[in-house]
Order: sequence, then C-alpha cells, then structure tokens
Amino acid sequence: MDVSELCRSVIPDDEKGYKLDLFCVPKHYEEDLDQVIIPHGLIMDRTERLARDIVRDMGGHHIVALCVLKGGYTFFADLLDYIKALNQNSDKSVPLTVDFIRLKSYCNDQSTNIVKVIGGDELSTLTGKNVLIVEDIVETGRTMETLLSLLSECNPKMVKVVSLLVKRTPRSSGYRPDYIGFEVPDSFLVGYALDYNEYFRDLSHICILNENAKEKYKV
Ligand code: IMP
Ligand code: MG
Repeated sequence: MDVSELCRSVIPDDEKGYKLDLFCVPKHYEEDLDQVIIPHGLIMDRTERLARDIVRDMGGHHIVALCVLKGGYTFFADLLDYIKALNQNSDKSVPLTVDFIRLKSYCNDQSTNIVKVIGGDELSTLTGKNVLIVEDIVETGRTMETLLSLLSECNPKMVKVVSLLVKRTPRSSGYRPDYIGFEVPDSFLVGYALDYNEYFRDLSHICILNENAKEKYKV
C-alpha cells in the first residue's frame, strides 16, 4: 500500500472526534469516554471496502479467515458479512471457512512482552491454505509477529493480515499489516470489541478511554 493511499485513512493526533452526545453510547460508559473517535457507521463503510480489496487480491482460492480473539470478533463478523455479500452478488465467488485463535498480551493499558496463545484450533489445519488473519489493532506489532512466526511453522500457502486499526506509536516494531482500516493516534482505544480489562466490548463506536476510567477498571 503506498503512502497516498494510506493518508485517507490516517486519523491525526489532533483529531477532535465527535462529542459523545451526538451518538448513542451506553449509559454505563458515559463517564469513561472523552470522545467518539471512529463512529460505527464509518467503521462499517471502511470494512466494506476492505472486503472488496481482499477478495480482489485473494479471491482466486479458498480463504480461511482466522479471527484473533477476543478483540477481533466484531470486525471479523462484519468483514465476513461483506465478503459473503460479494460472493452472493457476483459471477465469481470464493469459498470461505473460519478459524479462531485466542491470544493475550495486555494488562491494563500496557502491552506485555509475552504473547500467550490461550485457545483455538490446532494451527496445523492451516497447512497449504490461503489464510487471512483478522485482527482488531496492531500496536507494537509483537502479537502479529508472534502469530505469523507460529503460523509459518505450519507452511500455509499464503498469509495476509487485515487489521482494523494500526496505532502510530514509537513502541512499534515497524510491522505493517497487508490491509489497514485506519491508522490511529497513540491513545488507548475501546469499543467495537476493543476492551480495557474486558470492559467496553459492548460499545459500538471506537472511543478514547479517559484517565479516570483507566483507574476505575484497573485490575
Ligand atoms: P501489540 O502486540 O502491541 O501489537 O498489541 C496488539 C494487541 O494489544 C491487540 O490485539 C489488542 O488486543 C491489544 N491492544 C493494543 N492497543 C490497544 C488499544 O488501544 N485498545 C485495546 N486493545 C489494544
Ligand atoms: Mg487483538
């Protein structure tokens, strides 16, 4: 992906976002959020386009979509719905199967150095397959680099990574996914299945968590 293509999806550091009361936000989270940074409708519109790009590039063969749990589940479901719609409405279509893996690397708002696989099917079922890894957000890149190296031991035919978000941070290893929904500022984001200690997955929009909330939901 070239830089000019990326710019359209880059959310700047000084992005003001949207006031919470412009949209519907669960009452139990009103005190915890500063602003909506990516409204749900915009996420859906961008996801529709990512689905089209992915089918264009990978559509020749059976795709195994691998969801990185838990944060990836909403994006995964919506992305697959758009891929299914393309399959249903075009002369060409591609078989799609699904797989799940659960990884954990976060405590409070800090990425830890250890990325743990804590569930999912045997990766060996992906040998010889075209795999699309579906992730919510790439920050340091460590989670994805770990998963890619685990996966390469199983010799898949092709591996592509789509991440809804990539964080602009000095902590990045430099890793970039093949498909990116939005590039976001270096803040802690929640909503659309992105969590803070398991809270905020039940929020539709992507929002910035405020400092009080980090304290309130700390473990
Ligand atoms: P990385 O290994 O540092 O790239 O972090 C990737 C994982 O950390 C993601 O899959 C998320 O689960 C989690 N993560 C990173 N940044 C955020 C955030 O701002 N909000 C919620 N989860 C995050
Ligand atoms: Mg994740």
